[in-house]
Amino acid sequence: MTETLETLATEKLALFPEESNAHLPHRRHLIDLDDWTPYEVQRLLDRAAYMRDVLADPTRRLETLRGRLAVTLFYENSTRTRISFELAAKKLGADVTNMTAAASSVTKGESLRDTVETLQALGANILIVRSSQSGAPDVITRYFRGAVVNAGDGWRGHPTQALLDALTLQLRFGTLANRHIVIVGDILHSRVARSNIWSLTALGAEVVLCAPPTLTPPNVADAYTSRPVPGTGAQRRVTVEPRIERALEGADVVMALRLQRERQQAGLLPSLREYTMRYGLTMERLQLTKPCALVLHPGPMNEGIEIDPDVAHSAYSLVEEQVTNGVATRMAALEMIGLAMGTVGTAQ
Ligand code: CP
Repeated sequence: MTETLETLATEKLALFPEESNAHLPHRRHLIDLDDWTPYEVQRLLDRAAYMRDVLADPTRRLETLRGRLAVTLFYENSTRTRISFELAAKKLGADVTNMTAAASSVTKGESLRDTVETLQALGANILIVRSSQSGAPDVITRYFRGAVVNAGDGWRGHPTQALLDALTLQLRFGTLANRHIVIVGDILHSRVARSNIWSLTALGAEVVLCAPPTLTPPNVADAYTSRPVPGTGAQRRVTVEPRIERALEGADVVMALRLQRERQQAGLLPSLREYTMRYGLTMERLQLTKPCALVLHPGPMNEGIEIDPDVAHSAYSLVEEQVTNGVATRMAALEMIGLAMGTVGTAQ
């Protein structure tokens, strides 16, 4: 495995030297991945693979965001996403400050627009936004002159999570074309699943969604297969299989999703125990996949509910690699945005 990683990193270094960033698509906002071509996804993942090397040297800093102020504006709790964005922005030379809504004037009734305009008045150039409201990052682009990054909005999208998941898998598999990837759990409420479906299918993987009918969005497969991959026109491959034993047959990857306990209160599940019995990812169920199939989980995990601790901490689990790759992936995403914004002193 190490050899594969090193080979990949070396290839990327040769392809994309630090001084030559012209290959990256210049998107000023990162909202979701539905309109990304496979080329764009791959360029970003290649750049993220290169950023892993940058991160391997703790003394190294890039200059892409020097003179920029990035603000993490989080209306929801977060560990991985907020910290990795902060580390990524600092590694790119940005000044970074964090705003947690619960400890801000939002609690006194300040609106989203006023908050954004206040941060703008304080000099923010990049807003990295986590919100429980689907579409909040899009709304912010209307009021904010800088760049907006979606760090997870409601049930809609979590694009950098999907990109770091793809990077983690590519570092193991090389290519995701024709890989059989099962996403199991609360698909209905999962922004991670939604963004992953866009990027994984763009990269040629076949995605199988496995959830109880109450946690499966209506016509979900059609919603994706009716939108060909931009740039290539390829048909996205997405199917639904509610029986976990069937879904796992021949899988290369199983991505378990967090089950939010409030789903039971909402009447969507008979009981957590029943859910775990029918959909929990156990070692026994993992035997149905291909040998050496890999396990992802975006975190935070409810161990013993959607994933057994034996699986979560097994050699099949890439959970820690996902977290580590989050910093490199977010560096690549912020670099893309920084390049689109131009150098400091130019109009935003
Ligand atoms: N995966 C993820 O978004 O985790 P956090 O909520 O800790 O950021």
